[in-house]
Amino acid sequence: MDLDIQYQTGLLWQDYQHKEWISLLGQLKEAANDGQNQQLFYEAISFLAMYVNHHFSVEEAYMKQYRYPEERFHREEHRIYILRLKDFREKHREYATDVCPKIVENMTDWVYSHIMENDKKLGEFILTKEQPRLKQS
Ligand SMILES: [Fe+2]
Ligand SMILES: [Fe+2]
Repeated sequence: MDLDIQYQTGLLWQDYQHKEWISLLGQLKEAANDGQNQQLFYEAISFLAMYVNHHFSVEEAYMKQYRYPEERFHREEHRIYILRLKDFREKHREYATDVCPKIVENMTDWVYSHIMENDKKLGEFILTKEQPRLKQS
């Protein structure tokens, strides 16, 4: 699956990680729809949580390195997502299988809107710092 052009920031590593993240959410949704294999579902959430933590820490390291002006706000958005994910992991055992896909869908929508509202700005900022001459020409 390719990341739709409107969601691309132009930063290779960032686009790649977003693509992986969305595909992980797709797998999680499938596992939720299946409803039969609790273990598979649990593993998919664990891997997703690890991947998201990693992705956020890479973005945050860049924000710090280049003194990104919106760092505080952007970090807060990440923190809220981590909390939602944590909450979901804690509750998923109680959730009926018909509720889980909806929650996974909401988490996927968040990724898309986070990319549009925050990551695209960040990606452009990093590119300006790393390729100043390319950006000016
Ligand atoms: Fe991101
Ligand atoms: Fe982000």
